[in-house]
Amino acid sequence: MNAQLREIVDQYDPNLALDVASTIPASWYTNKDFYELERETVFSQSWQLAARADQVAEPGRYVTTDIAGEPIVIVRGSDGVLRGFFNVCRHHAAAVMTEPEGKAAQLRCPYHGWTYSLEGELKGTPDFSGVCDFDRAQNGLVSVEIAEWENWIFVKAVQEVPESLAEFLGDDLTSQTGALQLRGLHWFERRHYHFDCNWKVFVDNYLDGGYHVPYLHKGLDSVLDYSKYMIENGEHYCLQWSPIVTDGAEAQTGAVRKGDRALYYWIYPNFMINWYDGVMDTNLVIPRGVDQTEVIFDFYFPDVVSEEARARNHASVAVGQRIQDEDVAICKSVQRGLSSRAYHAGRLSVRREAGEHLFHRLLHRDLRNGLTG
Ligand code: FES
Ligand SMILES: [Fe+2]
Repeated sequence: MNAQLREIVDQYDPNLALDVASTIPASWYTNKDFYELERETVFSQSWQLAARADQVAEPGRYVTTDIAGEPIVIVRGSDGVLRGFFNVCRHHAAAVMTEPEGKAAQLRCPYHGWTYSLEGELKGTPDFSGVCDFDRAQNGLVSVEIAEWENWIFVKAVQEVPESLAEFLGDDLTSQTGALQLRGLHWFERRHYHFDCNWKVFVDNYLDGGYHVPYLHKGLDSVLDYSKYMIENGEHYCLQWSPIVTDGAEAQTGAVRKGDRALYYWIYPNFMINWYDGVMDTNLVIPRGVDQTEVIFDFYFPDVVSEEARARNHASVAVGQRIQDEDVAICKSVQRGLSSRAYHAGRLSVRREAGEHLFHRLLHRDLRNGLTG
């Protein structure tokens, strides 16, 4: 199996410059074993968004999620410290916390009632007296590395590459986002979208430098200056940005996409931050099968309280929804085409698709390391 996977991974040449490069091969989007390899490498070993900071602001507040298929809980302890654990009971492996988020005084497993403190120590074990060689202190929840950045909490399930989140993001990215004062924006609403495609089809679509915008997103196109759309690659991120125009803006979009520029940050492998003046949404792209993808959108605004602002915020979310709806059908169409015997790989636009080129090269690096490691 490894030999076959290696052959698939090696079909991509990461050393080719953009003007002679091709996309990653179609099999990377359709092969089930490859999908598992991605989970063990790309998703287990990278920093993954696990929670929003606002969800775990007070002691006892927790969020559950799964990262690369493994259950995780993020909880703020009574001591005010934020921690991450595998949400797996040390008794017989049930998920200890089962709600998506909440507030708790202790963490109690629903199966046989074992309890853990908010700091992860095993406290209560009903009907367990007489068990020999059982050290409670060695049976707390297993911790996982977490890190905070701006409005978010990230987790890394496997510590193969000891790279901190700050090192991974890099100073150039964190200084740019620092200037945007993202912490002044407050979470307003979450939406889940489902796409009938491999997760990379969604990311490719995002990273095509606005190539598809004039054809698929007429409303969005009316506020962006397509000819001035810029693509800037960092080490692990890509910034796509465009000046905003007001002349000829389509009314619904123009009313909620203002300011002088739109910024679209993609952070390898699956997190995006979309920023307009006074509006931010984030996208977390989660593989749900080789040809199924869930994308979680969180919408943020400066004012989420006043009635007037809330009406404006709802209008802004509706525009975001329209843009996603416009992408659903094309992503499905691409996934179907990737399975066709007529397609193997495609070429990349030098003007538009440098972000995709970066994405594919980073994927290749992680997959190759996973196979040799
Ligand atoms: S599995 Fe949690 S108490 Fe038994
Ligand atoms: Fe799109």
